[in-house]
Amino acid sequence: MNAAACALLRARDALTDLRPQPDDITADAIAGLSRTPRTLPSKYFYDAEGSRLFEAITRVPEYYLTRTELALLEAQLPSIAQAIGPGAHVVEYGSGSGRKTELLLEHLRDPVAYTPVEISRTAVLDATARLSQHFPQIEMLPVCADFTKPLDLPESTQRAQRTVMFFPGSTLGNFTNDDAVHLLDAMRQTMGEGGCALIGIDLDKDDALIEAAYNDAAGVTAAFTLNLLARLNREIGSDFDLDGFRHRAVYARKRLRIETFLVSQRGQTVHVGDRAFSFDDGEAIQVEYSHKYTDARFAELAARAGLKITHGWNDARDWFGLRLLQPA
Ligand code: TRP
Repeated sequence: MNAAACALLRARDALTDLRPQPDDITADAIAGLSRTPRTLPSKYFYDAEGSRLFEAITRVPEYYLTRTELALLEAQLPSIAQAIGPGAHVVEYGSGSGRKTELLLEHLRDPVAYTPVEISRTAVLDATARLSQHFPQIEMLPVCADFTKPLDLPESTQRAQRTVMFFPGSTLGNFTNDDAVHLLDAMRQTMGEGGCALIGIDLDKDDALIEAAYNDAAGVTAAFTLNLLARLNREIGSDFDLDGFRHRAVYARKRLRIETFLVSQRGQTVHVGDRAFSFDDGEAIQVEYSHKYTDARFAELAARAGLKITHGWNDARDWFGLRLLQPA
């Protein structure tokens, strides 16, 4: 057996499977489309094609987020590692961020264990197997679970000095402020007393720069959002006409967030499950929020979750930030 296959078997042995409730895509789609204004849940963006398109987004010139955060990590990791300290058990929510995770694990002093937490069993196993080949000295303790709820972490063989929750990519921004507080509160419970969290946040900046990042000229982002409808058609047999909807992303400065919609280009009826939904010309389905943060707004969310910010790092242009938090 080759090394990759062995790594996958070892990951499977190490898996803690908390059996998260499987998604009911049809029910979720119907519930969202029945609302006024209509919505569709953004968690369904990331099927295989959606994940591929998101990777492509991270490479378009307008999407500054990934590139800025990676450069920030590269520049500041010595100081971040210093602030975190030795012997950490690193816990990551979601398992897609490969390069960022590698950078963190490379720079920390003697990390003892790594736990990716992810709702998809195959995604969490693949990520674990791949990382374990780079970091044979770090114990891999993957967990299959819904990360929006507090969880009991598997214990590392070698006692960890500290639990570090790693949540890069400004994924926090995809939650409404109330949901972000819930998530941060769950993180606080999971990390325990001496724990901390390293969180990536996209900072408020010039509207045009933010809007361009979600409206790239090559149309990759438009293809990404439209793939949500394509996925529903593939998986639950809905009949969205992909030419009948258009991507729209606007920065709502009052709410400090990009609001992404799929807008019906004409009057039309779409069938989902046993239901029919009639759209007016110009009617929008809200599909994603991407919140941007000021220092004041982020500190307020942290405080509501019982956390305080102990360290912060921004890139030179103050476009993207990393914050280290611990229980207040
Ligand atoms: N988490 C990413 C972000 O908010 C996801 C994303 C990038 C996205 N481009 C998008 C989500 C366009 C919806 C639409 O930046």
